[in-house]
Amino acid sequence: MHQFHYHHQSLYCENVSLTQLATEYGTPLYVYSATTIRENFRRLNSALDPLDRMVCYAMKANSNLSVINLLAQEGSGFDIVSGGELYRVLKAGGRADRCTFAGVGKTEGDIAYALREGIYCFNVESEAELEVINRIAGSLGVKAPIAIRVNPNVDAQTHKYISTGKSQNKFGIGLDRASDVYKIAASLPHLKIRGVQTHIGSQILQTAPFAEALEKLIPLVQQLKKDYGIEFFSFGGGVGIVYKEALASGSKEWWTSSETQKITTEDYAKTIVPTLQKLGLRILFEPGRFLVGNAGVLLNKVLYVKETPAKNFVVVDGGMNDLIRPALYEGWHEIVPLKEPKTDAPLAPVDIVGPVCESGDFFAQDRELPPLKADDYIALMSAGAYGFVMSSSYNSRPLLAEILVEGDKVMVARQRQTYEDLIQGEHQP
Ligand code: LLP
Repeated sequence: MHQFHYHHQSLYCENVSLTQLATEYGTPLYVYSATTIRENFRRLNSALDPLDRMVCYAMKANSNLSVINLLAQEGSGFDIVSGGELYRVLKAGGRADRCTFAGVGKTEGDIAYALREGIYCFNVESEAELEVINRIAGSLGVKAPIAIRVNPNVDAQTHKYISTGKSQNKFGIGLDRASDVYKIAASLPHLKIRGVQTHIGSQILQTAPFAEALEKLIPLVQQLKKDYGIEFFSFGGGVGIVYKEALASGSKEWWTSSETQKITTEDYAKTIVPTLQKLGLRILFEPGRFLVGNAGVLLNKVLYVKETPAKNFVVVDGGMNDLIRPALYEGWHEIVPLKEPKTDAPLAPVDIVGPVCESGDFFAQDRELPPLKADDYIALMSAGAYGFVMSSSYNSRPLLAEILVEGDKVMVARQRQTYEDLIQGEHQP
């Protein structure tokens, strides 16, 4: 469920009119609902209640300080992938000892920073990385806590760019080699084996891939507990969200509104909790999209309507640089006008396109929408995850503002960049 709904024919986030925010702060504009994020966290955390667990928000999904701060308040840990993300956690009131550090390309500087701050664990992706962490820990006179990320070769049945648990993906160490790599880790003097980790992909809408990964990994996890006394098993993230019928899903039982999206928190928990419980280990989860995805929208203003013999285009002020998911993964975001259309409004297919000089700069193609005209506002739903964080200033378009709403409180979570900001740090001869 989420906190976006029509009220008096106008789309609201919690108790605040989005048209009012668009007018006051300008467009394009990201708006997040704090209550939705809190409720998502609580729903997932309580479904996992039978487990000794730590939910570590995969903050790559949305790393605004305000979002980190509110999840830290809820008791979340953080799954980080860079020194920059650790810096954000510490700035926003999160704790280093509740951070796991993932990623195939950790730099020496990032490893040293994370060791000095005392993170909970490195999730290690290669033997070469083990040796680098060992060396840096030795030079700092500490023992580095590590887990190996194991790749179970499972098809997560998601877009190929966000599938991570197949042998051909760059992530983790194959199940067949994992025991040997743990032996190497155990032989290195400045490492402490703390756990084991896996993550099979993102936007997963069925329970089967999770069940399959678990089945494949359990014998290894049990063996590692015996051999090295590991204390945790991290089961990664990947739980998908509603993109189609996203607005309607806010008022209905979560996730069940669409034929194609079959997973619920309860299904997820039912599939994995009984098996995980038997392990007698601390279980970590790394949800990203699930916590923040449906808590955000991207507001756009219609600039022009351009009719051609082949197609009708609605040109809006947001572009692929602001939300790259449609261009990069053929990501589908529901598009709704901020002014509620009449129930009998005629629908016609249009392309919603941005101002960026690329044919890939579209938010939707051949989308059946009610009539739109210049100066109308629209919202792209489910834009809270992998939205702003993946944006760029391509075409010298300043980065957008981000607004956080809670009840009737509005806070500027990030100021819109100015032209001055845009060239900051640049020099000319
Ligand atoms: N843990 C690890 C090790 C990950 O690599 C990821 C995501 C997560 C957790 C969180 O996954 P989630 O719960 O959000 O599915 N930009 C893409 C998604 C990239 C996901 C990268 N890794 C998109 O917009 O669909």
